[in-house]
Amino acid sequence: MKTPPKAPVLCLDGPSGSGKGAVGQRCALRLGWHYLDSGAIYRALAYRLRQAGVDPVDERAALAIAGTLEVECLPRPDDSAAVLVQGVDVGAALRSEDVGDTASRLAADAAVRDAVLAAQRRARRPPGLVADGRDMGTTVFPDATLKIFLTASLQVRVQRRYKQLKLKGFSVNLPDLFRTIQERDARDARRRASPLVAAEDAVTLDTSDLEIDEVASRILDLLQPRLVRTRAHGTGIANASADTDSRDSGKS
Ligand code: C5P
Repeated sequence: MKTPPKAPVLCLDGPSGSGKGAVGQRCALRLGWHYLDSGAIYRALAYRLRQAGVDPVDERAALAIAGTLEVECLPRPDDSAAVLVQGVDVGAALRSEDVGDTASRLAADAAVRDAVLAAQRRARRPPGLVADGRDMGTTVFPDATLKIFLTASLQVRVQRRYKQLKLKGFSVNLPDLFRTIQERDARDARRRASPLVAAEDAVTLDTSDLEIDEVASRILDLLQPRLVRTRAHGTGIANASADTDSRDSGKS
């Protein structure tokens, strides 16, 4: 029996505040594709360990929870994706910088990363997947249809994160945020297991001076010919491509 063709994947990787989440959700909604916020998986793990009162560096406890973790991400037009962990929306609780910091520590553990790999790959379903994170293009979906690496200046990224946190009602100290984001990015880039790095075949986009919709439009313009090309090569993702054609015809 022939193996069914894999659904197309758009990978968006980059550091904190580079716009992956907002851009990813806009792209997913415009394409009518599924959406995976892979950072939410590490955040959900951190959150559940904290809830259970377990020290997050306890690898055994982390692995036990990682193996049972069910995370589903639903994109929203205002970019505040619902994140269902075991069916319950805990999206807002995951956004604190404390949870983000614990997530980044857990994510440096190769065994933990291995434990969540299958859950991430299961999100690849027709008509397609938009996946954002740090290693979507390098490790999780190396055969992605298009890989984008988003960057922005540290100043811009910190300001964006500051606004997001304020909007969600967290109290934030700007100098502290500056420091934690810098530390988190350094840890993500330095770690041995799937470090934060652009895939060799990724297109890098600096979003410092761009609006979310503008970034999404540029990415979808890059994606379109690749979907058409893949369809021409008969890999069977014609429906996803046709879907994109019709849903995307009015894009800005
Ligand atoms: O993107 P977000 O800030 O939600 O991610 C939280 C942390 O999860 C990151 O700092 C990073 O350490 C980790 N992460 C990762 N690989 C991914 C996504 C997130 O290591 N694909």
